[in-house]
Order: sequence, then C-alpha cells, then structure tokens
Amino acid sequence: MKIAVIGTGYVGLVAGACFASKAHDVICVDVIKEKVDKINRGISPIFEEGLEDMLHDLVPRKKLRATLNLKKAVLESELIFISVGTPSKDEAKFDYTYLEQATKDVGLALKEADDYKVVVIKSTCIPGTTINLLKPILEQMSGKKCGKDFGLGFSPEFLREGVAVYDFMNPDRIVIGGVDDKSIEMIESVFINFNSPIMNTDPTTAEMIKITSNSFLAMKISFINEMANIAEKIGSDIKDIAKGIGMDSRISPKFLGAGLGWGGSCFPKDVSALCQQTKEVGVPSLMLESTIAVNKKQPLRSIELLEEALEDNTVKGKKIAVLGLAFKPNTDDMREAVSIPIINSLLDKGAEVHAHDPAAMKNAKEIFDSPNLFLEEDPIQALSDAEGCILVTEWRIYGQLSPKTFKGAMKTPILIDGRRLFDSKKMRTRGIKYFGIGLGK
Ligand code: NAD
Ligand code: UGA
Repeated sequence: MKIAVIGTGYVGLVAGACFASKAHDVICVDVIKEKVDKINRGISPIFEEGLEDMLHDLVPRKKLRATLNLKKAVLESELIFISVGTPSKDEAKFDYTYLEQATKDVGLALKEADDYKVVVIKSTCIPGTTINLLKPILEQMSGKKCGKDFGLGFSPEFLREGVAVYDFMNPDRIVIGGVDDKSIEMIESVFINFNSPIMNTDPTTAEMIKITSNSFLAMKISFINEMANIAEKIGSDIKDIAKGIGMDSRISPKFLGAGLGWGGSCFPKDVSALCQQTKEVGVPSLMLESTIAVNKKQPLRSIELLEEALEDNTVKGKKIAVLGLAFKPNTDDMREAVSIPIINSLLDKGAEVHAHDPAAMKNAKEIFDSPNLFLEEDPIQALSDAEGCILVTEWRIYGQLSPKTFKGAMKTPILIDGRRLFDSKKMRTRGIKYFGIGLGK
C-alpha cells in the first residue's frame, strides 16, 4: 500500500519506518528541511532505539523517503496519516495550529486527487475534533464530500518514547475510528499483519479511548505515589505494596512504579486537556483534578526528604548532585520532565546544583539558565564533593554506581532515590544515608 505520513516526530517517523518494514511504500512529510534531509540520508532526527538501523535499511531500498512536498506525497498515496504535534496551550487545552495547517494542506491536495483516499488522524486531540474541526476543513479545502469522495478516521497511537519501535510493532490493540465502513476497511488493511486485536469504532470514541487511556495510566501513578507517601510515614515499603497489589490480575503490576511523578510530552498535556473538557461539558472530573494535583507536589517530595536528611535541614549554600534530567530513561526528551521543578526549587533555595544525564544534556542547556547550575560530563563529576544527591531518572548506568563510588566522591553520602533504582538494604548497610520514595526510614 502507498502511505504518506505527515509529521516526522516520535509518532510519524516510527509509524513510517514500521509500515515500510511491513513492505508498504512510505513517504514521510515534514516542514523542517533538516529533518527531511537527515531521513533521506538514513539518519534519525530523534533518539529512539532501533529507528536509525531501520532507516539504514529502508531508505537505500526506497521503501521510505522523506519530502517537504506535502501535495505530491498525498497525491502519490492511498492512505494519509497525520501525526503532527498537538502541544498544550495555556496549560489546559491543545494547540491545534499544526494539526489545522496540516489538515488544510491535505485538503488542498485532495482537491487535485482523482482517486479515493483515506485520511487518518494520529495526533492526539480532544474527543470530537476529527468530526467537528478536521472533517469540515478537509471538505472545505478539497471541495469534496467526506464518506463519498474520500474517507476519514482517527486511529490513536499508544507507543511509549524510548521503546517506540517495539511498541508500534507489538501493540496490545489497534483502535480504528472511522466515519464509515469503507474508511475502516482501508485503515484496517495496513494493520492486518500486526498480529494484534483490532477494535473498530467511530472517530470520537477512538479519540476518547486515547486520552482516557493516558489519563488512567497517569491516575494509576498518582495513586501509587500518594500511597508511597503514606508508606513512608507508616514505615513500610511501597515496592512490596505495589508487588502485592499488582499480583491481582485485575490491578496488574504495570504503571505502579512509585517515584517523583509523571512527565513527558503527553501525560501532562493530555490529562490537563481532558480535565478541562470535563468542565466544559458540565461534569468536572474530581479524579482527574486529583491526579494532576498529586503529580504537581510529588517531585518536591525529593527535596523534603533531602532537607530532612541534612544535619541543618537546608540545601542553602550546599552542592547538590542531580542524576537524570530526561523525563524517563532511554530518551533525550525533557518536555515536562520532573527534573525541571526539582532543579528550579533547589536553585531557589540557594543550592549549587551539579546535574548529569546520559542523553538530555543538549536539551537541558536550552531549558536552564542559572550560574548556579552546572551540567557535568559524567555522574562522578556531578557527585564530586556533593552534600546530597537526588536520583531523578532511573538510567541503567546510574544503577551500576556502587555505595563505594558514592562514598568516595561525595562530601556526605546522602542519596535520595526518587525512582527506587537502588537496593536500599545494600546502600544502608554500606554506609550510605539512603532515603527512597515510599520507603520507611
Ligand atoms: P513531535 O513534535 O515529535 O513531531 C511532530 C512533527 O510534525 C515535527 O517534526 C514537526 O516539524 C512536524 N510538523 C508540524 N507541522 C507540520 C505540517 N504542517 N506538515 C508536516 N509536518 C509538520 O510530535 P510527536 O511526539 O510525534 O507527537 C505527535 C502527536 O502524536 C501528538 O498529538 C502527540 O500527543 C501524539 N502522541 C505522541 C506520542 C509520543 O510518545 N511522543 C505517543 C502517542 C501519541
Ligand atoms: C505515554 C504512554 O505510556 C503511551 O502509551 C502513550 O502513547 C504516550 O504517553 C503518549 O500518548 O505520548 P510516554 O510518555 O512515552 O508514554 O512514557 P511512559 O513510559 O508512559 O512514562 C510517562 C511518565 O510516567 C514518565 O515520566 C515516567 O517516569 C512515569 N512513570 C511511568 C512512573 O512514574 N511510574 C510508572 O510506573 C510508569
């Protein structure tokens, strides 16, 4: 099948590469020339495991190409996926600037098409957007009738950054919300050999499935984080509690990792946007409001633990190490990373912060601007002479740091494990003042 993918970010480029690896002919479109040129040279513009190897294979075989020419890509294709960004606007709504522009451009291209094509929205949006906003744009720009001259659907993407290729190739389910059976059939045909259950529905329900899914996962994490804070007070261990409840198949052990809260390019904006929509439709969601409120407080729990551990209970004038800046391991993405409020709060309180991340240093340089923040080349440099350390992102390389390393490098070996990466007993018995989220003292 001939496929166009509009937007070559985490979703678009991964989708394009995965479709091409399933023998489809894919043409990716972006507005950024540098990205297009890189892709055509087989180089991935984003940090995503396995993606560049796929491009190395697919680009020379001409299974995947990239272009700035959206119209040509649309006219050459039978299925057109739109996967441009829908960032947050004013903290509580989606900004549809890119989505509207891409849809307008697709609509204009459809005007010149003489065959039936299906447009598939993959960008996350508020339920109702495909039908109420995007369908009218496509009809107006093309002068054609949706359902008769072209098809339309919303098919949510559930991949996680860092494991995006694996997730795309091995989905738990594929959801297709189409305006009619013909659209659904065409979209289904591209997913048929993905060995995954396929659920068909209407576009608005598919949009609601996507945003509810992210909100539920965020709620699960906020819930376990709240329980973690209680576990600390009653002297128990949230890791065992999560294990114990997760063994109930109705609960499942996934997304019960207590820590410093959820960040990233999607949970924060999606939960806020759904929360806002619940207000607009007159059924404000207390669950979503609490999910957000718990998550706002949670990163700062690491600083409370650190202050409690320090002899004079203050970080002022002290060198503090922060390990991990990305919003989670295996990505360089720092969008809404919890490292940001943690570092800003440490700086506000007068600390000198020495931070490290294996992948996100370039992005960090663009976010922070303080003479008291030092971005270090390696974790030992960050730990050197520090009076406390907060582990923010659970990169595997940090887990390999031994108690001896912490003791050797730091002035006082206080370790706040914000992600419960380390073996608490090993740390405590080997001279580290170790405190973990959800772990009684
Ligand atoms: P991204 O910001 O990484 O990439 C979007 C790309 O679209 C950029 O390369 C941008 O240059 C391009 N673009 C913008 N306007 C364009 C236009 N008019 N024509 C062509 N290209 C254009 O975004 P992303 O992370 O891939 O997310 C895309 C959508 O998918 C969002 O709605 C997001 O919520 C959703 N989503 C993201 C993930 C994820 O893990 N990142 C997972 C599931 C769903
Ligand atoms: C998330 C969803 O998992 C994907 O299904 C969805 O497609 C995507 O959002 C999206 O819509 O963009 P992602 O943001 O890449 O994926 O990362 P996750 O692995 O879900 O982690 C999100 C945040 O939750 C991270 O900050 C992570 O540290 C935190 N988290 C995750 C926890 O604190 N505990 C956990 O047990 C799991």
